[in-house]
Amino acid sequence: MKTIEIPRPDDWHLHLRDGAMLEGVAPESARHFARAIIMPNLVPPVVTKADAEAYRGRILAALPQGSDFTPLMTLYLTEGTDAADVADAFTSGVATAVKLYPAGATTNSHSGVRDLGKVMGVLETMAEIGMTLCIHGEVTDPAVDIFDREKVFIDTVLDPLRQRLPELRITMEHITTKDGADYVAGAVKNLAASITTHHLMINRNAILAGGIRPHYYCLPVAKRELHRLALRKAATSGDARFFLGTDSAPHVDPMKECGCGCAGIFTATNTMACLAQVFEEENALEKLANFASLNGPAWYRLPVNGEKLMLTRHDEPVEFPSHIQTGAGRVTVFDPMTPVYWSVEA
Ligand code: NCD
Ligand code: ZN
Repeated sequence: MKTIEIPRPDDWHLHLRDGAMLEGVAPESARHFARAIIMPNLVPPVVTKADAEAYRGRILAALPQGSDFTPLMTLYLTEGTDAADVADAFTSGVATAVKLYPAGATTNSHSGVRDLGKVMGVLETMAEIGMTLCIHGEVTDPAVDIFDREKVFIDTVLDPLRQRLPELRITMEHITTKDGADYVAGAVKNLAASITTHHLMINRNAILAGGIRPHYYCLPVAKRELHRLALRKAATSGDARFFLGTDSAPHVDPMKECGCGCAGIFTATNTMACLAQVFEEENALEKLANFASLNGPAWYRLPVNGEKLMLTRHDEPVEFPSHIQTGAGRVTVFDPMTPVYWSVEA
C-alpha cells in the first residue's frame, strides 16, 4: 500500500442542478473538493447577480452540516445580459466567471448566444475588469459533424474572438481533442483549459462499440483514441494552463436510458480515485497536484487550499458504487471500464 498527499483539490467545472438532485449530489463533490465552479445551466438559467446569489444560497443549504465547500458562481451569458450587472457580480465577489453556451450546444443551452456580436459589450467589460469567460467550445451548425465541432469552433469562433479581444481571459472548458490541447498550449496569454476525468479514460468506443452505452454519452462527446492520448499528455504535463474540471453532470437514469438520452456523465463520486489511476498509468503522480490542486487556483487568482487530500493505492482494484440514490431518482456513477487501484482516504 502506498499513500500520496495533495493539497485539497478544486473542481473548475461542475453541475450541481437544483432541488432534490442538488441535495443528492452536492455531498458527493463536497467530500473531496474544497471549491467548484458551478455551472449556471438551470431551467431557467442563472443569468443575473441576484440569480447567482439565490442559487449559491440553495447550494450552501444543501451541503452536509459542517461542510466548508465553497461554490464559485457563474453567470449564464444571454444576448440580453446586462454588462453592469455582470461587473457588479464580479467586483462584489458573487460571481467568479461568465459562461458562454452557444445556443443549442448542450443540455439547457437554448437561452445561450446565437450572435456573438450581441454580447461584445459584455465581453469588453469583462476584459476591462479581468473577469474570465468560460466557454463551451462547440459550434452548433447541424452541417458540422459532431466529432468536429470543437475544432471548427476554435477556427471559426474562438480564434477570431481572441484576436478581436486579446485582453479577455478565456477558459476553454472540457477540451476533448488534440486540436484543443494544441491550441491552448500554443497560446501566449489569457487562455487556459479544463479537462474532465472521463475524457482521460474513455474514447468514443465506450459509447458505441458492442452496444450503445448512454452513460458514456456527454458533450462534448468523447473522441478518437489519439485525442484521449493528447489530453492525457496535456493533463499530466504539469503545464499550468491545464486543470481539472470534472463536468460531473447528473441526470436521473430514465433520462439517460431512453430513445433520446441526455448528455452528461456523473463522476463526482469517484473522480479523484480515477484521476490518480490515470496519473499513475502515465508515470506522473507527482503532477497530480498541479492538475487537480494548483493550476486552477493560479488561473482564477485564488489561494491554494490549505488542507490536504490523501489517496491510497491498494493491491486490489477498488469497487465504487454503481449509482447513488437521490430524491430526484437514481443516478449512475461513472464506470471507468478499467481497474482503479486508488481510493480517497476519509
Ligand atoms: C452538461 C449537462 O448535463 O448540464 N452535459 C454534458 O454532457 N457535459 C452540459 C455541458 O457541460 O455540456
Ligand atoms: Zn458541463
